[in-house]
Amino acid sequence: MPPSLTAALQEWESLEKEYHQIQESHRLYLQKLDEVSKLQSNCSSSIAHQRSRLKDMSQLVKKCNKERLTEEDVKTLDEIKEHIKARPNTFFEMEAFLPKKNGLYLNLVLGNVSVTLLSKQSKFAYKDEYEKFKLYLTVLLLLFAFMCYFFVSYRFVDAIFNFLLVWYYCTLTIRESILISNGSRIKGWWVFHHYVSAFLSGVMLTWPDGYLYQSFRNQFLAFSLYQSMVHCMQYYYQSGCLYRLRTLGERHNMDLTVEGFQSWMWRGLTFLLPFLFFGHFWQLYNGLSLFKMARLPDCKEWQVSMCGISFLILFMGNFLTTVAVVRTKLKSKDQAKPKGQREALCVTMEDVEAESSTQPEAMEEEDPLFSNLDLFLFTLIAGLIIYWFMSRKKAEPIPEFKKLDQPAPSTRDTSFIEKMKRTGRNIVVFYGSQTGTGEEFANRLSKDAQRYGMKGMAADPEEYDMSELSRLAEMDNSLAIFCMATYGEGDPTDNAQDFYDWLQETDGKLDGVNYTVFALGNKTYEHYNAMGVYVDKRLEELGAKRVFDLGMGDDDGNLEEDFVTWREQFWPAMCEHFGVEASGEDSSIRQYELKEHNDINMNKVYTGELGRLKSFETQKPPFDAKNPFLAPVTVNRKLNKAGDRHLMHLEVDITGSKIRYESGDHVAVYPTNDTAIVNKLGQILGVDLDLVISLNNLDEESNKKHPFPCPTTYRTALTHYLDIIHPPRTNVLYELAQYATDPKDQENMRKMASSAPEGKALYQSFVLEDNRNILAILEDLPSLRPPIDHLCELMPRLQARYYSIASSSKVHPNSIHICAVLVEYTTKTGRLTKGVATTWLKNKLVADNGHKSTVPMYIRKSQFRLPFKASNPVIMVGPGTGIAPFMGFIQERGWLKEQGKEVGETVLYFGCRHKNEDYLYQEELEEAEKTGVITKLNVAFSRDQDQKVYVQHLLRTNKEDLWRQIHTDNAHIYICGDARNMARDVQTAFYEIAEELGGMTRTQATDYIKKLMTKGRYSLDVWS
Ligand SMILES: Cc1cc2nc3c(=O)[nH]c(=O)nc-3n(C[C@H](O)[C@H](O)[C@H](O)COP(=O)(O)OP(=O)(O)OC[C@H]3O[C@@H](n4cnc5c(N)ncnc54)[C@H](O)[C@@H]3O)c2cc1C
Ligand SMILES: NC(=O)c1ccc[n+]([C@@H]2O[C@H](COP(=O)([O-])OP(=O)(O)OC[C@H]3O[C@@H](n4cnc5c(N)ncnc54)[C@H](OP(=O)(O)O)[C@@H]3O)[C@@H](O)[C@H]2O)c1
Ligand SMILES: Cc1cc2nc3c(=O)[nH]c(=O)nc-3n(C[C@H](O)[C@H](O)[C@H](O)COP(=O)(O)O)c2cc1C
Repeated sequence: MPPSLTAALQEWESLEKEYHQIQESHRLYLQKLDEVSKLQSNCSSSIAHQRSRLKDMSQLVKKCNKERLTEEDVKTLDEIKEHIKARPNTFFEMEAFLPKKNGLYLNLVLGNVSVTLLSKQSKFAYKDEYEKFKLYLTVLLLLFAFMCYFFVSYRFVDAIFNFLLVWYYCTLTIRESILISNGSRIKGWWVFHHYVSAFLSGVMLTWPDGYLYQSFRNQFLAFSLYQSMVHCMQYYYQSGCLYRLRTLGERHNMDLTVEGFQSWMWRGLTFLLPFLFFGHFWQLYNGLSLFKMARLPDCKEWQVSMCGISFLILFMGNFLTTVAVVRTKLKSKDQAKPKGQREALCVTMEDVEAESSTQPEAMEEEDPLFSNLDLFLFTLIAGLIIYWFMSRKKAEPIPEFKKLDQPAPSTRDTSFIEKMKRTGRNIVVFYGSQTGTGEEFANRLSKDAQRYGMKGMAADPEEYDMSELSRLAEMDNSLAIFCMATYGEGDPTDNAQDFYDWLQETDGKLDGVNYTVFALGNKTYEHYNAMGVYVDKRLEELGAKRVFDLGMGDDDGNLEEDFVTWREQFWPAMCEHFGVEASGEDSSIRQYELKEHNDINMNKVYTGELGRLKSFETQKPPFDAKNPFLAPVTVNRKLNKAGDRHLMHLEVDITGSKIRYESGDHVAVYPTNDTAIVNKLGQILGVDLDLVISLNNLDEESNKKHPFPCPTTYRTALTHYLDIIHPPRTNVLYELAQYATDPKDQENMRKMASSAPEGKALYQSFVLEDNRNILAILEDLPSLRPPIDHLCELMPRLQARYYSIASSSKVHPNSIHICAVLVEYTTKTGRLTKGVATTWLKNKLVADNGHKSTVPMYIRKSQFRLPFKASNPVIMVGPGTGIAPFMGFIQERGWLKEQGKEVGETVLYFGCRHKNEDYLYQEELEEAEKTGVITKLNVAFSRDQDQKVYVQHLLRTNKEDLWRQIHTDNAHIYICGDARNMARDVQTAFYEIAEELGGMTRTQATDYIKKLMTKGRYSLDVWS
């Protein structure tokens, strides 16, 4: 046999031997397993048997107690009782090593798998790992909360944080259930509070972004930050203490480190108590803040009250449990110590060893502080308190938040169908309106209905349950009219957002519902009348019947004329449709009645506030459109070096207001009308402007009780609440015509309100082209002297003006910058006319006679946002005041750079008339280019040479670079400023670049830019 084969055979023999040994060992192992399994079930059933016998035994002992016993017998019985009492603990210990069925929760999560670890080491290792998991996650959450609080403010990053919290707490509840199966004594509140926390985090996760979310966000993050810090601190101190006690045999191996405050922590760790109590009261504060928020009329999010309830439960559970520990401890200390020592409550760490060896803690202290019944009662009490709290608040009017001009609708009021039935109306006119035009049109249409023998009502879709629309078919000759304005990128107005969402989601049938739509928009915008078009199409898809064609109103042309023309055709068609006689009786219908207050407490009179009376004197957050913040002006300087225009840079201080903003948001300001014009109006109408009046709605069912906050003076109404500067609409002229004593004037005014071509031409030239506001009309028509109360009823509301914020909150968290140009022009009739807001802003001197000038303002969130990844290049195009948001963007990119972030190319295209005149922020921009924050600064000086040079010319010059940035490097493009011409021309330049360098046709290029828009890589912030 060859030697190699011999070696192989020998090796094989040895392998075979080893194999048989393995087989034998495995057989033995299986046998032992079998035995172990039998022993386990043996032990389990014996324990069960013993338990039942112990129960019987207890009964027996009780019986014995009733007999007459000797002292010896009593002693014996006591001993037995002691043993009976101690047995459950011993069984608990034993069962920790026996497999058992999972509880409901573990069964649901893991199924019926045994989670019992069979050795002490593995139990301890699991517990140890649980503690580490908790510590690591706490540190991670701390860092996350810190980042979100100080650096990153995106809802989706918050969502990641909330998700992490949900995951963390859910995992804790599972791990704790496993620990309990393995002998841990953690129970009661310390387990339950993790379920509540998981629920709370889940609700926070679903809370949609919005003003309310933003108002609470930082409070929640700060609280999370604090909570995580306290937990880390607790872990650090408690782990040492627990370790020592365990070594001394005073604590059970499976006891956990960070679990609220327990009696064993008393020695040396009482300093933790203030931190814990502070955290509990913070939870109470969070709960109360949320309930306060839930009472706001604007609060629609269910998450607010749910989070409030959760915080309150957490507070009650934590607070009561900790107080109970303190109480028990104080009691036991009092009993255990000699009198002289009773006051010494704080014991140092050194005492732990000395004390612990001589004074083991009583077993009762190991018991859960709260039973499940207690927890149930806490929850019940908390629920009852909340119910009482909320129902009480609903029943009582809350003067603080009650809007006098727009009271919050009661539950019954949300049904427009019931209201229509109750008041015998058959036409409802819904409006989606931001600046009031749509609302005005809706009011006019509902008034019209009366003229045609029908009854209408204007309705804000936000105040009603729009899912009731299908019920309109229940009413004979019913009709829904929609006056829908479009904003942003084809978006609905704020008050129509819910209706729009509902339309998108619903698949309900609207068969038998009659409708028509009038769209309000502006042709200069990319998505012209998108909302009106959508509503019209969608209602048809849902089965509703279009009874009259969609009207398209263009604010760039003559919106009033578009509306009047549509309306003139609409009503006769409706009369025919419903078989109503088209009387069309043209008579003036007053909506409000005048009440003069000759003897009124001036504290009850509005002096310019928009919502709550005296809200300008006692300012309370949250601040919004109905509760603006009075921000002091800290800087107001002229930006242009020369020229006859006035371009200005303003800074307003928002310290202490809790207002947060992002670069790209808009600040809305409420201006006031020029005093001189108000006085002239008073003079020409011969009225006492300081008379206190109320205009009360004659329709008692209407949600709008007054046209503006009342009672107030005519002076306040004309200064703060009414738009007296824009040319009046035709309906105003029509209503006022009755007061013109000269028949010619009366005829002309009525003609202007008609759809006759001659009338339209007259309105166009006399009112629009000549830019006549109400004062100019009164001056030029001396026979027209209407009563001031009717004039006040007809004038539209003075609207807030928006400005693109010219600062970054990262650099200026407490101030908001504005860049604006004074509007000033001379009309064809030779009147010098000044823009309301810009003139008012110009006059806002930093210190006005020692007084701080203030601006009522609030923030409007926008979609105009820097890319999430700072490394993406950005291309900003903003001539003139269009530079505003880019000042914020540039500051933010600079700040990111300073933080060591990788910041992509930052390219600016700015345009102005003359380099030496209106090169806005020249120093800042050149400095930013020098420091590399702006990688390329391109400025078009349009009037410094014969040929105009605009930003789009520079775009074309740099087309290769631009194409690379857009097509290859994923650049984000931003355009800000004039919507009428500039935005369109710039967009055309981008089409041309895509055509030329991307080899596309015009259609492909248009699609290409559209795609960028949908991806959020081509954003517009434009106005006209
Ligand atoms: C989202 C958004 C962001 C904006 N951001 C900025 C910004 O950052 N900076 C900025 O300066 N503006 C900005 N605006 C414009 C701003 O809101 C105001 O419209 C502007 O300041 C004028 O307000 P005003 O009250 O002074 O003028 P108004 O009293 O409202 O007068 C303006 C009106 O006067 C008329 N008018 C103006 N000029 C003439 C003329 N030459 N001839 C005849 N009629 C004329 C027009 O009808 C015009 O609508 C923004 C607008 C929006 C919607
Ligand atoms: N609604 C309002 O009351 C209101 C208030 C403020 C601003 N705006 C609008 O916002 C825009 C910015 O106002 P502003 O005073 O800050 O700017 P601006 O100084 O009038 O214009 C800035 C630069 O843009 C140039 N420009 C003009 N038309 C252009 C076009 N089609 N494409 C590209 N560039 C063009 C101007 O050149 P030339 O002037 O030499 O042509 C100028 O160099 C204005 O155009 C105005 O329409 C409206
Ligand atoms: C900031 C801003 C954005 C606008 N966006 C659009 C738009 O995308 N499409 C459109 O057709 N009209 C747009 N408009 C025009 C308005 O819809 C139009 O002026 C309308 O009459 C406003 O109605 P309201 O006063 O009822 O809000 C926009 C107006 C502004 C001020």
